[in-house]
Amino acid sequence: MYKQIGILTGGGDAPGLNAVIRAVVRTAIGEYGMSVIGIEDSFEGILGETHTQKLTTRSVSGILPRGGTILGTRNRGSFAKFVDGVPVFPEMPISEALANLDILGIEALIVLGGEGTLAIAEQFHKRGFPVIGVPKTIDNDLAATELTFGFMTAIDIATEALDRLHTTAASHDRVMILEVMGRNTGWIALHAGLAGSADIILIPEIPYSLDSIVKKVEAREKSGSRFTNIVVAEGAIEVGKAETYSDAGSLRLGGIGEIIRRQIEERTGKESRCVVLGHLQRGGSPNALDRMLGTNFGACAVRALARGETGKMVAVQAGVVSTVPLSDACTAIKRVALDSQLVRTARDIGISFAAPRESQMGEDAM
Ligand code: F6P
Repeated sequence: MYKQIGILTGGGDAPGLNAVIRAVVRTAIGEYGMSVIGIEDSFEGILGETHTQKLTTRSVSGILPRGGTILGTRNRGSFAKFVDGVPVFPEMPISEALANLDILGIEALIVLGGEGTLAIAEQFHKRGFPVIGVPKTIDNDLAATELTFGFMTAIDIATEALDRLHTTAASHDRVMILEVMGRNTGWIALHAGLAGSADIILIPEIPYSLDSIVKKVEAREKSGSRFTNIVVAEGAIEVGKAETYSDAGSLRLGGIGEIIRRQIEERTGKESRCVVLGHLQRGGSPNALDRMLGTNFGACAVRALARGETGKMVAVQAGVVSTVPLSDACTAIKRVALDSQLVRTARDIGISFAAPRESQMGEDAM
């Protein structure tokens, strides 16, 4: 059994990080008598003059409902570099970090992160250092798990935004566009679009046609619904085109909502507005489901370490938390399947994905 383990949070923050930290600390100390060291600012905290804090049941008291991470996080750092879009892991920071872990007396790590952070964690495992990953991201795009914590809170926030846009859209007979996060996947847009009664959902997995969007707006107008609510994932693409970046240098996605707004206004003459929900989706308190999922993930991660597992990630599969190889989570992202039940349901209830063929269908099909 390990005497002392470390925990760190990497990548963009997500609601529920503190719930995981608290559960790890309570389980490790209470159930297994281990000590827990919190590593600050992701893996960067174990480089140079290390930044760590001893975590106790007292120090994690009251953090369950708190947003962000008490340990700090980084989504860019020294451990991974991208060469032609492929991550490479330079030897130097990893060997320095391993030496520092030894000095700090940390015998195993629990790493909370998305696929980038978990890919770094896997490098530690490959060098013989025990690691268990915990899947975090509001995007829900991690392969090998049905759910990541943070996602359900993000959906709640996006749904509330859609509800609010609904009433103002209806009052002014406008087209309202809500741009949500999700990187190159449409999980947030799809779920919030369904929960928030969007008329059109645009996701990267189904490239859209402007003609289809216009046709849907006009069909609604004709039928007496003089407003339209659109939710667009930041990574959505028009057929034959590439993603839109708010900052091409750092490949930060964003701006597609405003482009569509202008085009709709030009084509339909209807007043349109765009709201970019941005980091509101990541900030603030986790909802009840993310608190529960985070807590379960945290306890399961400690139990996995105590069983001697390493190179694994806790994951939801068939509704139950188990462990899967870390490599399964890092090799590919999980995208919305075109034949998935939710896509089918959305279509069945009249939501349009503005796929090109939809513009050739009759209004009934839209
Ligand atoms: O992966 C989470 C996420 O919020 C994405 O949805 C978004 O594209 C990205 O992070 C934004 O990251 P940053 O923290 O650099 O603004």
